[in-house]
Amino acid sequence: MPEVAVPEDPDPQDGSEPAGGAPVAEDGLETLLQHLRDTRGFDFTGYKRSSISRRVRRRMEQLGITDHGDYLDHLELHGEEFTALFNTILINVTAFFRDPDSWEYLRSEVLPAVVAAKGPTDPIRVWSAGCASGEEAYTLAIVLSELLGRDQFRDRVKIYATDVDEEDLARARQAVYDERQVRGLDPELLERYFEPVGTRFQFRSDLRRSVIFGRNDLVQDAPISRIDVLVCRNTLMYLTAETQARILARFHYALAPTGVLFLGKAEMLLSHAALFRPLDLRRRVFTRVAPATATDPPFAGGDGQVPGATPPATVDGTPEEVLLSAPVAYVVLNGDGTVRLVNRAAEGLLDVSAADCGRPFRDVDVSYRPVELRRHVDLALAERRVVRVDDVQLVRDEQILTLQIRVQPLSASTTLRLGGPPAVAISFEDVTEQARLREELSQLGSRLETAHEELQSTSEELETTNEELQSTVEELETTNEELQSTNEELETINEELQSTNDELHAINDELEERSGQLNEVNSFLESVLAGLHSGVIVLGRDFLVRAWNQQAEELWGLRRDEVLHQNFLALDIGLPIDRLRPMIREALAGDPRSHQLGIAAVNRRGRTIEVRVLGSALNDRDGSPAGVILMMDEEPPDAARPAD
Ligand SMILES: C[S@@+](CC[C@H](N)C(=O)[O-])C[C@H]1O[C@@H](n2cnc3c(N)ncnc32)[C@H](O)[C@@H]1O
Repeated sequence: MPEVAVPEDPDPQDGSEPAGGAPVAEDGLETLLQHLRDTRGFDFTGYKRSSISRRVRRRMEQLGITDHGDYLDHLELHGEEFTALFNTILINVTAFFRDPDSWEYLRSEVLPAVVAAKGPTDPIRVWSAGCASGEEAYTLAIVLSELLGRDQFRDRVKIYATDVDEEDLARARQAVYDERQVRGLDPELLERYFEPVGTRFQFRSDLRRSVIFGRNDLVQDAPISRIDVLVCRNTLMYLTAETQARILARFHYALAPTGVLFLGKAEMLLSHAALFRPLDLRRRVFTRVAPATATDPPFAGGDGQVPGATPPATVDGTPEEVLLSAPVAYVVLNGDGTVRLVNRAAEGLLDVSAADCGRPFRDVDVSYRPVELRRHVDLALAERRVVRVDDVQLVRDEQILTLQIRVQPLSASTTLRLGGPPAVAISFEDVTEQARLREELSQLGSRLETAHEELQSTSEELETTNEELQSTVEELETTNEELQSTNEELETINEELQSTNDELHAINDELEERSGQLNEVNSFLESVLAGLHSGVIVLGRDFLVRAWNQQAEELWGLRRDEVLHQNFLALDIGLPIDRLRPMIREALAGDPRSHQLGIAAVNRRGRTIEVRVLGSALNDRDGSPAGVILMMDEEPPDAARPAD
């Protein structure tokens, strides 16, 4: 199993930032997240603080709120605010064939192998977790349909596409995408897999049936099982390492034994090598590692040896002289525990000399300094195996040396050649330099590990920031589109107004023309009335004066503008108007005949005159009575008075 670096949570739960990060724990933010979890059942506490803090602040700025506590009050007062906050926090940037190189690898290398590992009619189960508005799920549908053919795809494939955002899921189910959203699609695939709907495109309905959308919260809900291909891209990176680890354990459970996991290009599984093995690390495609079973080899001991498994080492055929001049320090003991041999290297390194030969080992300094060796000798002899004592420190010439000591039982033949009963060889190897190098290497390793973790955390941070930027760009594009559509709407209204204006101008022209015609008719009528020698008075059905010509003015001493629209019956003009009533009534009743009447009246100079009045009906166009025309002439004084 490859050695794995375990990056610490780059964005720890306590809200502090990773190395180089800016803000520290924001108590207000924590309270807000806990409130959302407790009252709304949505747990954002497992999300990275840097990103979530930015998103919450952004929402607060939109509302002009600077304090988390005030924002919490706002949330409690305005129920709909939760949706707005939810939409601000959950970034839903996505695209068809996002990161084309990775999809190409999946299409050409991974999926054919997944399909080949199955029986010809076996179902193929796919999960797009964090599917946003569905582009990823439909990309999977396109790739699998291309690989299997449409019929096999429909019969065998189920794509479960889940997200926590219901609004996104509703969009995904509709499967309608505008020109901008399908821009990255190969035009041929667009033609084959989408149907035009106005200016937009809808994913084919017959294939849509194999894609099942549903809500699943990766942080809280149980996973889908027996999955062959699990795609979870650009979703885990918003979560803390701890939350990611919990979800990855569930993904491991969700996958079938030969299942593959496809992550986003900024997401790593370095600390989860026990669960997933990279197929292609750069493209973030992993296979599931089978869980450890009882047949797995047990974990080896600290010295890399299973106790009792190593046969005792021997120094076969080592001549005493060779041993004496060996570069490594050696002390050899007889079976009775006396010192048999001390070589020159040992004399130089340890508090022991050739003069100690023949003395009991326990009486010699080296048996307990720099480390207690007697029990190791006993153990080596009793168990007939090499006993190692590592990292023994020895001060020599004001220098600290590191020794590696090996207590080695000798075989009978060696003992014989040494000329005595069974013995033990103790070697003292100076490994100071190796230890120093090892220490330096380990320090270098942990520095590399830290640098790698920082790099990983920075890269994830960059990627989340990038996604946020993309989301902002998309929001701006939407606002721009909205503005454009408002602009278009204004343009239409403007055009409509212009056309109404044109119509009004035409009506006005027409009216002006009519008014000219009316003026002409009026002046014609006036000249007709003025040309008559009789006084002419025209009354409407309401007895109001409609016309009063010049002769009438002269006869009765009242100007036209003084009587127009006045009630004729109420005029005091020296004419006994009551006597005219029957004539007027007849005319208004529709009597087509004219009636004549001679009346004595007092003219404007106070002289009594005889007036002949001729009354006839005034009919409108359809023949119904509309008023009365009265024509009046003064009779010459000597004219015979007509009968009443
Ligand atoms: C940036 S989008 C990625 C979409 C798509 N996988 C891709 O790579 O193009 C992240 C999606 O993860 C979803 N998400 C965030 N938290 C989630 C959770 N706890 N459970 C399920 N989905 C979640 C968001 O709603 C959003 O749709």
